[in-house]
Amino acid sequence: EENPDLQYEYFNAVLINEVDDEGNNVELGGEFILEPNDHFNNLSVNLSLSVVQVPTNMYNKDPDIVNGVYWSEALNKVFVENFERDPTLIWQYFGSAKGFFRQYPGVKWHPDEHGVIGFDCRNRKWYIQAATSPKDVVILVDVSGSMKGLRLTIARQTVSSILDTLGDDDFFNIIAYNQEIHYVEPCLNGTLVRADRANKDHFREHLDKLFAKGIGLLGEALAEAFTILGDFNSTGRGSVCSQAIMLVTDGATEMYDDVFEKYNWPERRVRIFPYLIGRESAFADNLKWMACANKGYFSQISTLADVQENVMRYLHVMSRPKVIDHEHDTVWTEAYVDSAMKDKSGPSLMTTVAMPVFSTKNETNQGILLGVVGTDIPLQELMKLIPKHMLGIHGYAFAITNNGYILMHPDLRPLVNKPLQICY
Ligand SMILES: *[C@@H]1O[C@H](CO)[C@@H](O)[C@H](O)[C@H]1NC(C)=O
Ligand SMILES: *[C@@H]1O[C@H](CO)[C@@H](O)[C@H](O)[C@H]1NC(C)=O
Ligand SMILES: *[C@@H]1O[C@H](CO)[C@@H](O)[C@H](O)[C@H]1NC(C)=O
Ligand SMILES: *[C@@H]1O[C@H](CO)[C@@H](O)[C@H](O)[C@H]1NC(C)=O
Ligand SMILES: *[C@@H]1O[C@H](CO)[C@@H](O)[C@H](O)[C@H]1NC(C)=O
Repeated sequence: EENPDLQYEYFNAVLINEVDDEGNNVELGGEFILEPNDHFNNLSVNLSLSVVQVPTNMYNKDPDIVNGVYWSEALNKVFVENFERDPTLIWQYFGSAKGFFRQYPGVKWHPDEHGVIGFDCRNRKWYIQAATSPKDVVILVDVSGSMKGLRLTIARQTVSSILDTLGDDDFFNIIAYNQEIHYVEPCLNGTLVRADRANKDHFREHLDKLFAKGIGLLGEALAEAFTILGDFNSTGRGSVCSQAIMLVTDGATEMYDDVFEKYNWPERRVRIFPYLIGRESAFADNLKWMACANKGYFSQISTLADVQENVMRYLHVMSRPKVIDHEHDTVWTEAYVDSAMKDKSGPSLMTTVAMPVFSTKNETNQGILLGVVGTDIPLQELMKLIPKHMLGIHGYAFAITNNGYILMHPDLRPLVNKPLQICY
C-alpha cells in the first residue's frame, strides 16, 4: 500500500557520510561504513547494504520515491545472498519505474563538476530494452508558425528525449509538418531506421535545422505515418511488435477521426501519444480524445524541465503487452567499457543482463511495471565458460548479440583514446 505520509530515512548514495557546517550528518546521509574491496577494483564498498540514487532533477523525499525505496529495501537480503552464492557477481541493482536506482554493494556517488547527478536509470539501454517490447515509432513534430520560439525549443527537446527512450530493438523516423510534410532526413523518406546510436545522433543534428512557419495540417502527416508503419509491418520489417505515433504539437483544431477510421480502427494497432507543448490547453481536448481513441496517453509539457518525466510516461503504456503476457525475458546489452572496473590489462569490458519486474497485485488485472533488475557481467567471466578443449589448436570462440554487435571476441578491446565513462 502506498502511504503518502511515509517518513523514512534511507541511505542516499550522494549524501552518505556528508556532514553540514556543524559536523552533523545531513538528512538521508548518515554514517555509512565503506571498505576498499579487491573484488570491486579496490573501490570502497559496503557489502551488507545497498544505496539509493535519485536523479538531481527529482525530489528525493517525494512520497512515490520514499514508498518505493521502503519496500525495495527487502532486496538487501537478496543481493547479499546472491553474492554469497556466486562470488563472481559484481554490481546488482534495481532501477525503479519511479526513477530511483538501488545499487549493491553500497558505494558513494559523486556529482559532476556542476553538482549534478544526471544518471536516470530509466534512460539506460538495459532498462528500456527490458521494460518495453520492440517498437516502431513515427515522431510527428508540428513546425507551424505558432510553434515559434520557446515552443519549438521544447518540442526539439521532447523529440530528443523520445529518441533517448529508443534502443537497438526499435525502429523510427521523424516527420515535421506544417501545410506540407517534411522528413527531417529527406534521404530516409518513407521508411524507418533502426534506433542505434549513429542513426539517433544523425537525426538529432537535423532537429536543429527545424524552423516554424505556415499552418499545421496534421491529417496528411498522420496518414503518412500510418502508411509507413503499415508498410513496415506488413512486409515483416521493423520490430514486428508494437507500433506508435508520437505527436509533438501545441494543439489540434480537429479530431481527424476520418484518418483513424481509415487507417487504425477498429483494431487500434498503432498507439498515439500526443505531447501538448506550452501552457495553453485550448486545443488539448482533441489531443486527449486522440490518445484515448487510439490506446495511447496524453501529456502536456509546459517547460523544458517537464520534458523528461512526461516523455517517459509512455513507456508504462508500451510495457503493458509484456505485463499482460507475463513475459519475463532477460535481455543482454552489447559490450561496453566500465572504467571503474579495471583489471591488469586496462578497463574491462562488460555486458548487462536485465529483467523487468511487475506487480502481481490482483486488483490491477493488467499488472504494473515496477522497474527492472540487472547485474553487470565482465566478459571475462563469460569467456571462462567456453569449453577450450572443444575448440582445437587455432580455434577460438566469439559471440554477437541479436542486434549484430560483438559481445565477445579474443581481439575485442576498448579504444583507449575515447573518453571512458561508467555506463551501467
Ligand atoms: C555497512 O554500513 C552500515 C551502516 O554504516 C554498517 O552498520 C555496516 O556494518 C556496514 N557493513 C559492512 C560490511 O561494512
Ligand atoms: C587492490 O589493492 C591491493 C593492495 O593495495 C593490491 O595488491 C591489489 O592489486 C589491488 N587490486 C586492484 C584490482 O587494483
Ligand atoms: C519521397 O521521395 C520520393 C522520390 O524519391 C518523392 O517522390 C516524394 O515526394 C518524397 N516524399 C516526401 C514526403 O518528401
Ligand atoms: C503486424 O502484422 C501482423 C500480421 O499481419 C498482425 O498480426 C499485427 O497485429 C500487426 N501489428 C501491427 C502493430 O500492426
Ligand atoms: C489472485 O487471483 C488468483 C485467481 O484469481 C488466485 O489464484 C491468487 O491466489 C490471487 N493472488 C493473491 C495474491 O491474492
